[in-house]
Amino acid sequence: MRSVRASATIALVIAALTAGGSLGAAAALWFRRPALQSASAARAASANDELGALKASFRRPAAVPFPADNPFSEAKRALGEALFRDKRLSVDGSLACASCHERDKGFADGKVQGRGVPGRPLKRHTPTLWNLAWSSPVFWDGRARSLEEQVAGPVESPDEMAQPLGSVVTRLAADPAMVRAFAEAFPEAPRVDATNLAKAIATYERTLVSPHTRFDRWIAGDEQALTQNEVAGFRLFTGKARCVNCHSGFAFTDYAFHDIGLPDEDRGRGPVLRLEAAEHAFKTPGLREVDRSAPYMHNGSLATLEDVLRHYVSGIVERPTLSKDLTRGLELSAAERADLIAFLATLTSAAEPTPPDTIVAAERGPAAPAEQVSTVSQDEKAFHPTHIALPPGGRLWIVNNDTRTHNVRVFDPALDFDSGAQEPGETVEITFPVSGSFLVFCGIHPKMELYVDIAQ
Ligand code: HEC
Ligand code: HEC
Repeated sequence: MRSVRASATIALVIAALTAGGSLGAAAALWFRRPALQSASAARAASANDELGALKASFRRPAAVPFPADNPFSEAKRALGEALFRDKRLSVDGSLACASCHERDKGFADGKVQGRGVPGRPLKRHTPTLWNLAWSSPVFWDGRARSLEEQVAGPVESPDEMAQPLGSVVTRLAADPAMVRAFAEAFPEAPRVDATNLAKAIATYERTLVSPHTRFDRWIAGDEQALTQNEVAGFRLFTGKARCVNCHSGFAFTDYAFHDIGLPDEDRGRGPVLRLEAAEHAFKTPGLREVDRSAPYMHNGSLATLEDVLRHYVSGIVERPTLSKDLTRGLELSAAERADLIAFLATLTSAAEPTPPDTIVAAERGPAAPAEQVSTVSQDEKAFHPTHIALPPGGRLWIVNNDTRTHNVRVFDPALDFDSGAQEPGETVEITFPVSGSFLVFCGIHPKMELYVDIAQ
């Protein structure tokens, strides 16, 4: 981990690095039983432990993860920000990325469906861009595997900026200021080209960490930071309503794909994975700055947070693909709805939201040392363990001990593996043909990552 100081202020609070890690810690605390205490004292202590562990699971991560082949640098971030605002990226010079992703609208655009260069409504609603550093695949259906891969999408899409990346590069390369900025950002490959353009924009996007709000003060221990009603809303969110099943962690998303029963024909993640179990599933949006980013959902169909709650209570369309994490038969009184909405408002900053001035950058990769085991289990949307080493010709068994359907994948030049739907109780077997390091992940819950080292 390395600390990079861009200019001044804000410190990021330390916490467990991965969603899996923090969930694991929460579970461990939950079952801790203090010895030698009266039953009622033990009950009170364990209720405190429970709330403490729950609050800890919302703490901010210590560092922002960057991929090894595109580490953070301030020159790259600054170039990325300039490109994000540059209208030369669209064919007629009318649109920048920032035209559709506006910071004071939660990096969305406030419209049900935005419009690109040709003026037709886009197929989906513009999503927020806060806290995407922790997301692996991007887009509502996760069809781009990384932020770098995503950039070509809107630039080249005939419905959005409508221009081949090659032409953008030619335009920018004719501008001496751009040539200089690219050379500073990429001293090892000083070129204006599509790869560097994507790397710069992705670096800027990874620094879009949502600002601290009252909720963070409360998590950090200031009991006065939230009102009674807001705390009641938090208890509903994490308790009876189980919103936290999917909206978990500091950004309030598991970055996974779920069908929550919205009535439309969009098949979402299904066609991307060619997997029936993922039909109508969309990426869980984070809820930071959510008060600014209405309307909501992949199709922008819900205008207000009241409408969103109405959907979860009485709007769910019955389908075989509905997420197993979805709360069914939920009933909320008018007072409970008001508390939930008051709580959600504590995730939005009072002033204009600005990303942090200081970024603590970490390299993406395994957090734990490799264990010598050939069987790995899946539970609570995580692999256990998360990093293993196998002998040459390594064979691996992955057992689904979870309540959810998984889809085990390896996407590597040496091995392209797709388990199809792996139901609870089923075991998947993978043989690694060559030595090297491989990433095994779940297509439905991509934050589930297993690093496998195969010895020479
Ligand atoms: C015309 C409006 C428009 C423009 C211009 C635009 N976007 Fe988007 N953006 C969208 C829409 C709509 C989606 C959702 C598409 C989908 O998921 O199918 C999206 C999705 C995204 C996502 C995925 C977010 C997530 O949660 O996975 C990222 C990242 C993104 N855009 C970045 C950019 C960048 C970078 C640019 C400029 C190169 C850009 N956008 C230009 C409308 C726009
Ligand atoms: C099964 C997982 C799951 C549960 C449980 C869940 N959500 Fe969601 N939530 C999602 C997904 C997935 C979406 C996006 C769905 C889409 O666009 O098709 C979403 C969208 C939202 C949005 C819109 C955000 C935006 O930017 O468009 C809000 C607000 C929201 N949920 C709040 C809640 C609340 C409050 C609860 C509890 C009552 C809850 N969610 C329960 C998965 C879940």
